[in-house]
Amino acid sequence: MRRAIIASATGILSFCFSVAVHADVEWAYQVLDESLLPQRDLDIDLQAPRSVPGSSLQRSQEQIDDHWNPPDWFPDDHYAPVPEVVAHGAGPLVRACAACHGFTGAGHPESSHLAGLTAAYIEAQMADFKSGARKERFWMNAFDVSEEQTRIAAEWFAGLEVIDWIDEVIEADIVPRTYIGDGRMRHFHPDGGTEPIDGRIIEVPQDRELATARHPYSGFTVYAPEGSLARGEDLVTTGAGGRTIQCFICHGPDLKGLGDVPRLTGVSPLYTVRQLNDFKNGDRAGSLAPLMTATVINLTDEDMVAIAAYLASLDP
Ligand code: HEC
Ligand code: HEC
Repeated sequence: MRRAIIASATGILSFCFSVAVHADVEWAYQVLDESLLPQRDLDIDLQAPRSVPGSSLQRSQEQIDDHWNPPDWFPDDHYAPVPEVVAHGAGPLVRACAACHGFTGAGHPESSHLAGLTAAYIEAQMADFKSGARKERFWMNAFDVSEEQTRIAAEWFAGLEVIDWIDEVIEADIVPRTYIGDGRMRHFHPDGGTEPIDGRIIEVPQDRELATARHPYSGFTVYAPEGSLARGEDLVTTGAGGRTIQCFICHGPDLKGLGDVPRLTGVSPLYTVRQLNDFKNGDRAGSLAPLMTATVINLTDEDMVAIAAYLASLDP
C-alpha cells in the first residue's frame, strides 16, 4: 500500500515536473539576462589588448566585438580572399557575416554554421529571412543585404571545409552550473556548483578565453540528458515507429546534406533544436519548409533534444 502511494505520488510529481520543465525550448534561444551576469563578467577590462596563440594580431575585447571589423586571427588560412561583406559588412545596417558566423563558417551555438551548406541553400535562406518567411528574433531579419552581396558571401562560405567543432556529447542529468553571458554565449559559472539539466542541452566553449576572442578553431562541449543519444538514434535512423521520418531520405545517407538539402552533422545542437521548433511552430515557413512538416509535427521537446544531441555526436 505504502509503495503504491509512493508510486502514484511520484507519478503525479513526474507529470507536473515534465509539464513545468519541458513546456517549451525557450532555453535553446540563449537569451541574455543581464541581471544574472556574474561580477567576473562585469569586471572585464574591455580595452586591454589580447591575442590568441599562433597569431600576431592584438585586439581588445571592445575591438573583437566590433561587428564591422571582427578579428581575422589567421588571415593566411583562407582558401580564397575573404569578401568585403564577410569581413566588414555592407554599410551601416549590414554587419560582417564573420562577426557571428566566424572566418571558418563554424558559427557559435547562438548563431549558426555556414560551412558545408550550398550557396543556393544559403541564398534561399537569406531570401526567406528578408521576406520574413523565416523569422529569427535577434539579427537575420534586420539585414537588408543586396542579392549580389548575398551571392558573393554565399559562394565564399559554401567553399569552406567543415571543421570538427564539437569535442564530445556528455550525457548527464546533473551538470556544472552555467549562465548566459555577453554575446549570448553560455559559460561555466565562476562560483562553480552543479544543477539539474532539466531537459536542456548545455553547450559551453572548450576554452572560454578563446571563444570570447572568437577563435576560429576553438569549439564547444555538449551536455545532454541521460538517454538522449539512444533515443535520438532511434528517431533519426528508424523514425521511431512513425513518430517522425528517417532523416537520411532527404538529408543524405551520411546526413551530411543531399543537393541543396542542408547537412545535419557537425552542427550546434542548440541550433538544431531551434530549427526543429521553428519548423513546428511556423517561424520557419519558407517555400521548402513544408518538406519538414511531417518530420516535426509529432515531436515532443524531449524528442528534439534527443535528435539534436545524437546528430551532434556524429562525425561532422
Ligand atoms: C550579428 C550576428 C549575425 C551576423 C552579422 C550575421 N548573421 Fe547570419 N545568423 C545569425 C543568427 C543568430 C542565425 C541563427 C538563426 C537561428 O537560430 O535560426 C543566423 C543564421 C544564418 C543563416 C541560416 C543558416 C542555415 O543553416 O539555415 C544564414 C544562411 C546566414 N545566417 C547568413 C548570413 C550572412 C550571409 C551574413 C552576412 C551578410 C550573416 N548571416 C550575418 C546571426 C548573424
Ligand atoms: C521529406 C524530406 C525531409 C525529411 C524526411 C527530413 N528533412 Fe529536414 N529538411 C528538409 C528540407 C527540404 C530542409 C530545408 C528547409 C528550408 O529550406 O527551409 C530541411 C531542413 C532541416 C533542418 C534545418 C537545417 C539548417 O541548416 O537550418 C534541420 C535541423 C532538419 N531539417 C532536421 C531534420 C531531421 C532531424 C530529420 C529526421 C528526423 C529530417 N530533417 C528529415 C527535408 C527533409
